[in-house]
Parts: sequence; structure tokens; C-alpha cells
Amino acid sequence: MSTLIVLGMQWGDEGKGKVVHYLAKQADYVVRYQGGNNAGHTLIYENKPFVLHLIPSGILFRKKYCLITNGVVVDPEALKEEIYILKKKGIFVTGRFFISEQAHVILPYHKLIDVILEKGDVKIGTTKKGIGPAYADKVKRIGIRVIDYLEKDVFEDLLEKNLNEKLFILKKSKINILKLKEKILKDHKELSKLIKPFVADTSLIIENAIAKNKKILFESAQGTLLDLDFGTYPFVTSSNPIAGGACLGAGVGPTKINDVLGVVKAYATRVGEGPFATELLDNVGEFLREEGGEYGATTGRPRRCGWFDAVAVRFSVRINNIKHLVLTKLDCMQSLKKIKICIAYKYKNDIYKEFPASRTIQKYAKPVYEEIPGFNKRIKGITKFDKLPINARKYIKRLEQLIGVSIDLISLGRKREEIIEIKKNTRWF
Ligand code: IMO
Ligand code: MG
Repeated sequence: MSTLIVLGMQWGDEGKGKVVHYLAKQADYVVRYQGGNNAGHTLIYENKPFVLHLIPSGILFRKKYCLITNGVVVDPEALKEEIYILKKKGIFVTGRFFISEQAHVILPYHKLIDVILEKGDVKIGTTKKGIGPAYADKVKRIGIRVIDYLEKDVFEDLLEKNLNEKLFILKKSKINILKLKEKILKDHKELSKLIKPFVADTSLIIENAIAKNKKILFESAQGTLLDLDFGTYPFVTSSNPIAGGACLGAGVGPTKINDVLGVVKAYATRVGEGPFATELLDNVGEFLREEGGEYGATTGRPRRCGWFDAVAVRFSVRINNIKHLVLTKLDCMQSLKKIKICIAYKYKNDIYKEFPASRTIQKYAKPVYEEIPGFNKRIKGITKFDKLPINARKYIKRLEQLIGVSIDLISLGRKREEIIEIKKNTRWF
């Protein structure tokens, strides 16, 4: 049995795409277990950046199996587009890409509702891909699963019921509901045909693969601090990117998971609204945004940037029981003169070393910083840990001390080979 979860430790955009692409070479299966096309996983393919939103990042290796399991919400239109883009690059998915019958479908009304809700009282800063409204339907038990989408009568009946249930909110978008329904039915003819060959019992595929001792990589989207249960609620996504989410989202028992690898960025970013104690609204924040190319891979929005928050990452370590970490984008900090690390929060007269659940404290707490000197040297291109400048090594060691986990890999760029393996011969599978 050989299974590994790769997940984000912050607010998404930690560089999971690159890490999965790096490890996928060793894997037989790559599995997406939650989220939808709100994700934006940037990889380098034929020397050019390439973003995947829905299909697992393993697809670029032509012999890997890729699965979208029950915990994911699938937008058939987005899937069609992604399959088309891959095909144009000469990457074919047939026979090695499967979608769970039990995954829920995102329909155009979910996207409309996402936009309407974002104009309301609580603005989350969502990606407007219809993720939250689709998961809400799942919880309300009115959602349409992939298997329902394939059964014409079932689909038409559920569509009618869903549109009726949403009449009140949809009226706010001034859309003609009859026309919307006609369009959905028309597209359904084509999209259901397109999806059908890929639909399968993905939990069974995984079970059989495990029985054959295949190597399975579970790829999370988003990050722990965007988790519906453990993130900075309500400024979260509507699924569970945490390690526990992989069992639920892929139909795999917890005793079948061997290891969990956390991906953590050397500084912090967040896109969308919500608390962010270490956010930098000054030229250092601006510098990190430009150095790191911190613009949303899905929405193009500028990402908010800040210092590494050890309080938040330590919390992610606990929630996911992380034993191994990949530190990414360290190269983007190479020109900074001074570097700060948040070691605690201060709110009123109290010091918090554990990540607080209170919205008030999350919002108003001030970071307590420790300052260290910058690396003073270019580090991009270095492939050995002991070739890193002393201050870069000190930074890494201090992070390890603060979060209590060893860093096994350091990524210094988007390309697969731009990585330092600190522990040589680490076998992930
Ligand atoms: P990857 O996989 C960063 C954020 C949105 C918003 C909140 C809810 O690339 O790391 P949603 O559309 O999911 O309902 O939006 O979650 N968000 C992400 N932020 N990276 C992502 O994915 C994200 N997916 C959603 O900005 O704050
Ligand atoms: Mg992203």
C-alpha cells in the first residue's frame, strides 16, 4: 500500500501544482478529492507556465491515471474546456481519466448565485465559479450528482425542482429563467455525452489500485486555512482541503493513508477577503507580489502578501498531523534586506500562541515578530542545501523550530528540477 496526500498549509497558492508535478513521476494515480475549478495549479510544460483548474496535475505525464472523486464539484463546461486545452497540447485523457458518479455538478445557476451572493452582506471574495452554491445544494440534499446528470429523466426532473427552489434568488440577477433552463437543457445534451465515457466508481478504482500496490497521490486544492471546518470561517472555501478531507472526498478509509506532505510557502499570501494578520500593505508586500508573481491563477486578482505566520502554520501541522514539509518560493525572498517571522499574536493584553477561532481576534490581533537578516545572496539555481547562504539556512532552521516539523524539500522556482532535496533518497511512496 502506498498512498500520499499532498496538501496546502496556508490559504492556497502554496505551489501544490509544482510539487504534485514533481512527485507525480513516482506515482501511478493522481487524485483530486475536493474543490472544483476554483483551484489554479500552475505547472511548467514545455518551458511554459500552464494552469490546470480541475483535472489533476498528474495528467501531463502520459501514463498516469487521474481521478476526480466524489468530494469534488465538477463544472461540465469547465471540464470540456480543460479537456480541449489539453488535447490542443497533444495530451489525451481518454482511458486514464475518470470522474466519480457521486461528484456533484456545478450548473450555470450556481455561478449566477455565487455572483449574487458576493454582492450581498458577506463578501467572501470567491472565485465566482459556483463552488459554494453547488456544495450548499449537496448539503441541502437537492444537488445533482454526475450519475444524475447522465440519466436524462432524473436530470430534467431535478433541474426543474432546483430552478423552482432558486427562483427568488435568481430573480436578483434579472435573468430570464426560462431561457436559462433552455440553455442548460441544450448544453446538457452535448456535455452529458462528453462526460459519460469518463464516469466511474472512483472509490473502487482506488481500492483496486491499492490492492495492486499502486502508488496513489491525493492532490488537494486550496489550503488548510481555507478549510470549511478549520479555516478562517466564514472566509473559507466550501470543502475540506485538510488530510481528513481526502478520506471523505475519495472514499478511502483513514487506515489506507500512509503519509501526508504539507506544502508551505516561505512567506504568506491570501486572495479574497478575510483575516490575514501578517499582511504587508507596504512596499515589501508589493515586492513579494511582483517577485512571486502573486496574481490569482484562476481569477487574475492580485494576491495579498505578508510574512510567514508560524502560528497559523503550526495549527495546520496539527490539523493534518504533518510530518513532512515542502517549502516553496524561497527564491522570491532572496533580495529582501530583513525578514520577519510571526511567532505569536497579540490581542489587547493577551498573547496567543495557538491559532484563535474567534473572528474578532483573527481580525484584530497584531503579529508578534522576530526579525532576521536577509539572505544577501541569489539562491535561485542552487540545488544543494549546504550551498544555500547561511542566512537562508538559518531562516529554514528557525521555521522548522517554530512549527515543529522538518522541511524535506525546498522549491526554488516553478520548474520541476528547481528543487533541493534536503533528505536524499526520501521515498514518498
Ligand atoms: P488553489 O488550489 C487561493 C479562495 C477564494 C475565496 C475563498 C472562497 O489554487 O490553491 P470559493 O470560490 O472557493 O468559494 O472562494 O477561497 N480560494 C482560493 N485561494 N487558491 C485557491 O486554490 C483558491 N480557491 C478558492 O479566493 O477567498
Ligand atoms: Mg492557485
